[in-house]
Amino acid sequence: MIPLPKGRPTFCAVNLACLRWNFRQVRKKVGRKVKIISIVKANAYGHGAGRVARTLADAGSDGFGVATLEEGVELRGAGIRAPILILAGVYPDQLKETLRYRLTPVLYDLGTLERLESELRRRRASLGFHLKIDTGMGRIGLLASEIDGWLPKLARLKALKFDGLSSHFSHAESEEEEYTHSQLTTFTAVVERLRQAGLCPPLIHMALSAAVISLPSSYFKMVRPGLILYGIPPSPVMADSITLKPALSWKTRVLQLKRVPKGTSISYGRTFVTQRESLIATLPVGYADGYHRLLSNRGVALVRGRRAPVVGRVCMDLTMLDVTDIRGVKQGDEVVLLGKQGREGISADEMALWAETISYEVLTSISARVPRIHYSSKASTCLRRAQALS
Ligand SMILES: Cc1ncc(COP(=O)(O)O)c(C=O)c1O
Repeated sequence: MIPLPKGRPTFCAVNLACLRWNFRQVRKKVGRKVKIISIVKANAYGHGAGRVARTLADAGSDGFGVATLEEGVELRGAGIRAPILILAGVYPDQLKETLRYRLTPVLYDLGTLERLESELRRRRASLGFHLKIDTGMGRIGLLASEIDGWLPKLARLKALKFDGLSSHFSHAESEEEEYTHSQLTTFTAVVERLRQAGLCPPLIHMALSAAVISLPSSYFKMVRPGLILYGIPPSPVMADSITLKPALSWKTRVLQLKRVPKGTSISYGRTFVTQRESLIATLPVGYADGYHRLLSNRGVALVRGRRAPVVGRVCMDLTMLDVTDIRGVKQGDEVVLLGKQGREGISADEMALWAETISYEVLTSISARVPRIHYSSKASTCLRRAQALS
């Protein structure tokens, strides 16, 4: 049984057994020799960073990736001792905390490299870092094409220790593989140049979830999966290539039930007017919880194992469902926003479609005021849920 929160019954239940299962599937794919750095940025994709990281550390994760220094400090506070990579880098005024919490920044521009190098020398300290190469993502990273310019500067670093080299795919979940292969070729050429120059660092990594599933030649020494650890395929077409178990369910309960006559308008803006006598259930969840306003008149939630449409606009703290066609609904009934109830399920991908976004945003948008409740259930229960959702 999942321990329920007191008071407002809106919460996310996170099954740690599913996380362990998903981690094992990644391990099976990449083998024992490739390190796995689990991406737990943005509160572990909304799943609760501390508990998730501790679970994955016990499952054998070789390290963790977060976006910001603050997220790294939080993991140290949760007892994580493994290496923590700050994927979006650190700022020169964060050097003290970076050293204190033994965090490893990904660095991507020469100015920051030079400033950190001279500050470290002044402090007589050293710091390991990973270098990011832009091979076609067009985001952060030194341009692979400018290697002749930056390579000699790398060679002069002393206080900064060159521990890793990385790049990031922009379209690896796509079935059109040409661009992904061209990024990989560019990265491999950079690795080769560094090798020839005697500068190649020990950790080389490029693969995110989609590449873990479909591109073993991109594994190098380490992979950086995020989404698949939470049980969601990076694209529906990849769902058959790996058996994943979604770890998170988002639940609430019916706050108020109201029978209203035909012609009653529901919520702000009168965007929904009942076409018949209707039974309307109000839920204690809204866009301030991360239940996207685009779900207004589009989303669906599960009540008594049936799908009930969201009617009217999603408000900041409240949302209405039309439960007229569902028998026996009572105040206090469980409502599943994401996850499974009976034979029905709503996946993060489905909710993302309604909200015109992607599963990543659905999960990371669930706000801090929604408690995360962690539990471990038997793998078989978990698997049934995953199958029902796929
Ligand atoms: C640099 C980097 N590596 C790895 C990942 C993990 O990606 P995914 O969740 O698709 O596995 C991300 C996610 O955004 C990222 O930004």
